[in-house]
Amino acid sequence: MTKKIGVVVSGRGSNLQAILDQIDAGTLPVEVAVVVSDHGDALALERAAKHHIPTVVVERGACADKVEFETKIAGALESHGAELVVLAGFMRILTGGFISRFPHRIMNIHPALLPSFTGLHAQGQAVAYGVKVSGCTVHFVDEGTDTGPIILQKVVPVLDDDTEDSLAARILEEEHKALPEAIRWWAEGRLTVTGRKVFVRP
Ligand code: GRF
Repeated sequence: MTKKIGVVVSGRGSNLQAILDQIDAGTLPVEVAVVVSDHGDALALERAAKHHIPTVVVERGACADKVEFETKIAGALESHGAELVVLAGFMRILTGGFISRFPHRIMNIHPALLPSFTGLHAQGQAVAYGVKVSGCTVHFVDEGTDTGPIILQKVVPVLDDDTEDSLAARILEEEHKALPEAIRWWAEGRLTVTGRKVFVRP
């Protein structure tokens, strides 16, 4: 049976679009069961609606506290049968309470080669530091910020005249390949997590 994933977003949703495009092309054997956003005006919600995918908005400001916020998001994912949670541009840190509901079943895409440049403005951090390569990382989410076991990384050059925006655009092209690829590996049952290491069966 086709495995179901839930995608959690905050904004533009170009990574969600990359997932949907690969599903349409027949190269990613999963179904997006629900898209959850913490912003009611996220462009990602329009992308989901065009594909007739159920959407749920859970705004932090409408919740009494973080526990209620995360409980609502987790509830939406579970009630739609999501077996894997994909954070695709979700701009909030999840706590242990949420993570323990989906052990090794939450993936995140980060626009840097972890463990370098965690947190916000990773591409700007890379330009400012003067590194010669950067890229993106897909990892399982643990309780730290961008610290979980690494599934897949893709590398791009950093050019002398790069700005945060130009590097972000180059990295984004790789994100759009990396995230669907990691989800495909998961869907094919090829990922095993042992401590910090993720093994990918050939
Ligand atoms: C991506 O660069 C992702 O790595 C970061 O936020 C951005 C989201 O872009 N976490 P989009 O919403 O998928 O277009």
